[in-house]
Amino acid sequence: MGNRIIPVPHEEHKIFPPPEEFSKKAHVKSETEYSEIYRKSIEDPEGFWADMAEKNITWFKKWEKVMDCDFSKPDIKYFIGAQLNVSYNCLDRHLKTYRKNKAALIWEGENGENKTFTYQELHRHVCRFANLLKKLGVKKGDRVVFYLPMIPELAIGLLACSRIGAVHSVVFGGFSATALRERINDCQAKVLVTCDGSFRAGKVIPLKNNADSALLETPTVKQCLVFNRTGITIKMTEGRDIFAEKALADENISSWCKPEEMDAEDPLFILYTSGSTGKPKGLLHTTAGYLLYTAVTFKYIFDYHEEDTFWCTADIGWITGHSYIVYGPLCNGATSIMFEGVPTYPHPDRYWEIVEKYKVNVFYTAPTVIRSLAREGEAWTKKRDISSLRLLGSVGEPINPEAWLWYHHNIGKERCPIVDTWWQTETGGILISSLPGAVPMNPGAAGRPFFGVQPAVMKADGSPAGENEDGALVIKNAWPGITRTIYGNPKRYKETYFSQHKGNYFSGDGAKVDKNGDYHLLGRIDDVINVSGHRLGTAEIESSLVVHPAVAEAAIVGFPHEIKGQGIFAFVMLNSGFQSSKDLEKELVKQTRKDIGPIAKPDAIQFVEGLPKTRSGKIMRRILRKIVEDKADEIGDITTLADPTVVEKIIEGREAVSSKQREKREKRETMEGGKRKDST
Ligand code: PRX
Repeated sequence: MGNRIIPVPHEEHKIFPPPEEFSKKAHVKSETEYSEIYRKSIEDPEGFWADMAEKNITWFKKWEKVMDCDFSKPDIKYFIGAQLNVSYNCLDRHLKTYRKNKAALIWEGENGENKTFTYQELHRHVCRFANLLKKLGVKKGDRVVFYLPMIPELAIGLLACSRIGAVHSVVFGGFSATALRERINDCQAKVLVTCDGSFRAGKVIPLKNNADSALLETPTVKQCLVFNRTGITIKMTEGRDIFAEKALADENISSWCKPEEMDAEDPLFILYTSGSTGKPKGLLHTTAGYLLYTAVTFKYIFDYHEEDTFWCTADIGWITGHSYIVYGPLCNGATSIMFEGVPTYPHPDRYWEIVEKYKVNVFYTAPTVIRSLAREGEAWTKKRDISSLRLLGSVGEPINPEAWLWYHHNIGKERCPIVDTWWQTETGGILISSLPGAVPMNPGAAGRPFFGVQPAVMKADGSPAGENEDGALVIKNAWPGITRTIYGNPKRYKETYFSQHKGNYFSGDGAKVDKNGDYHLLGRIDDVINVSGHRLGTAEIESSLVVHPAVAEAAIVGFPHEIKGQGIFAFVMLNSGFQSSKDLEKELVKQTRKDIGPIAKPDAIQFVEGLPKTRSGKIMRRILRKIVEDKADEIGDITTLADPTVVEKIIEGREAVSSKQREKREKRETMEGGKRKDST
């Protein structure tokens, strides 16, 4: 057996008080102080947010009204009548202070190259990029799609859009050409920004090739800006494609660009995320509310202090990177690290090497990363001096107590508080997390609501759940960072978030609250799965599988996965005339990679003769989930199914797939065990 996270049973249900040393210097120093600020923020939200807005944002024009929010419509507005510019807040205003020559962004490349941008330098790059976009005809309100790896130009490009009022939409570099095309067409982008290729664990991914395929059917894209990252050969289409470095170096491009005066509710960006049905949703975030919310949550939840070096390991292709690599940190004038690589390449101490190199103080990552690094063994963490760390964070999925304790002991050295931050692409910023230094930590629980946020757990009948009772997590009131709509589809916005529990925002997550008021997240309760902290709609993967000529029907369910949190299990029913085979399995995996990207490929496929359906034809995923979790005895009554006999057959077939999976895992562990012995 390889190095596993060793459960520490006697500590599992222990509550950890905030470390005294930390509390002394924290912005919020005690539970009483937290409760007092929280109470005020709920009793007088207008007063609270106005005060935060005065202190944290520079406005070109002040608001006439702080908020006007109605979940029943839904219609949500903050800082009505106010004007500001996001890039001005993230850059220009710092240039008037000692921060002018402070590091804003430290970029570390996969192969150890690095660049540091001071606020002054970043400002110059952003202005030039903004002027280039203008030259290409991009105007306020136009959409610009970014399909880039974690290179500085991505952060620069987003800030450049915000400077001129263009709306950015980042498509994660791991998505396929088809996924990219869908998103470009949905938001009708005018310009695509990409690069030749990206590095991933020593391999090169041909991004421009993918972009070329996508651009075959994207009529709105007039221009494609291409950065050079890997030096691989690419095809350039005349009249459309432009070498970005050359265009930016043009002496006619000025290093000054006036920031556009944006209305508080003008769109800032669209970010696509998976839903339980249909195609991905383009969630729209607006200017003032989003910026304020990310800035304030960054300050309090990460207890940001001027001298901190902050590292969020997420990719900017996801909301975490938007909010806590770019906007939250830069609005606060912080030093933010941006890392191109992966945690285990070339060695499993890559992250700790970076912590040592830049003396990182606050480190924010995902449970899947913690679990995979724990598996590599403690020797890797001990090789590096990580004593600069003072606070750790977790995001993306529930962190299991074993992983929490491993993080606490081996990375936090029992000295650093851990913030388990619950939020979503829709929420813009963190909604639930215990404030470090103020609120005791409860491993496995995200903790308490942030200021101004009123969560609740509701039972299916709409009544509030009692202590420790499971239910749906809703938010009763608005907060400035909430997404304002689904781009081009307000009806879906209303149906998805505001129709299930009327008058409340429905998160799609299950939760319970314990006697201390700590929220425990219990995973998605809709047809969304969470693979390594990435959200995937089961419907999206199913739609991809049924495109294959052999497939009649498919049903996807998540299953507990040691490292990824959830794995993807596909039940596939074939068309007559087709036989199941290893080759067909490979083809189906390829199909999902092509339509969505490598993150969506099933971990296991089971060919079935029929799927459990109600008489009205709805697939009963609940039953499939129980089968996959080896809890067939908990399936319950199946007499209402159209054909109850399919269940028995699926259970039999599942045993064969399980033993294959077991074999595969054991083989992998033996190999990894050998590899570890060689390298440590
Ligand atoms: O299920 C919750 C889970 O991730 C979902 C949101 O995914 P996404 O929009 O991609 O944003 C991820 C990063 C903010 C949630 O509905 N989730 C996120 N953080 C946590 C979590 N589940 C439990 N605990 C968390 N700390």
